[in-house]
Amino acid sequence: MPSTIAVRISEVTEEATGIRSLRLVAEDGAPLGPYEPGAHVDVVGPTGVLRQYSLCSPPEDPASLLIAVKREPGSRGGSVALHEAAVGDALEIGSPRNLLAVAPDADRHLLVAGGIGITPLLSMAYALHRDGAEFSLLYFARSRAEAAFADLLEEEFGDRVHLHLGLSPEEQPAVLGASGTGLSARSHVYTCGPAPFMDQVGAVLGDVVGADHVHTESFVAAEIDTEGGTAFTVELDSGEEFEVPADRSILSVLSDNGIDVFSSCEEGICGSCVSGVLDGVPDHRDNCLSVADRAANDRMALCVSRAKTARLTIELY
Ligand code: FES
Repeated sequence: MPSTIAVRISEVTEEATGIRSLRLVAEDGAPLGPYEPGAHVDVVGPTGVLRQYSLCSPPEDPASLLIAVKREPGSRGGSVALHEAAVGDALEIGSPRNLLAVAPDADRHLLVAGGIGITPLLSMAYALHRDGAEFSLLYFARSRAEAAFADLLEEEFGDRVHLHLGLSPEEQPAVLGASGTGLSARSHVYTCGPAPFMDQVGAVLGDVVGADHVHTESFVAAEIDTEGGTAFTVELDSGEEFEVPADRSILSVLSDNGIDVFSSCEEGICGSCVSGVLDGVPDHRDNCLSVADRAANDRMALCVSRAKTARLTIELY
């Protein structure tokens, strides 16, 4: 992480089953906000593990930042450590970054959250409400007990919030389809949650507003696993070969060898570095490719994904 801000946990709240929020204040008392609605921060937890979390406090509040952490069963220390952290504990964070910006020219905004995916959409709802924009928020969760911020959402945004609890994936398209009433080609949809959920939102509502008006944010749904790699060989379609050590990414190895690959987040989120796979089997560790893309194994994010085979042949886009 390029530069970090020393923060301290000032408040811990159990928001739902397995989800707690942490309020963060700067060690030196300096303001941490405002930030752009939809933004996230890198957080280095008590065990030194770096994870990304969406910000979910009101974006214009300079005094503190709020993150919500879901305890992930397979966590290597990121979410579990933050579930054991207490008021007064010190953490390091990066500066807020945004990959899910509000479209300024939209006639209407529809926010669609699946589970813990509510977090970036909560900050967007604060901003849309503040600005008097036309918006609705659909929130799908297994139960009210597992729906973080449900009470707050209803108190803050009233009948703009529509909670859908306990629906199966097969039941969700009908609800999504009905929510498209009133949307136009000038409307924008923002969704965050598990990849299959977001795929479904895009499939149903992309027909109404246009695929380029459906904005997705996937990284909060899973921790990016960059650990446990082994070395492998990457061959470019030009014939050049490079060894990728266990602790380096393909992107960084190519960059060190003077090969420019378009990249931005370097966290498997934005999709900028996605390239073709001509041979070998990638070990997908990103949160930007769809389930179908991953299954096809013909594309991969070079910043985080690795190889299941001893060699990979890739085609740079
Ligand atoms: S640089 Fe963003 S996914 Fe790789």
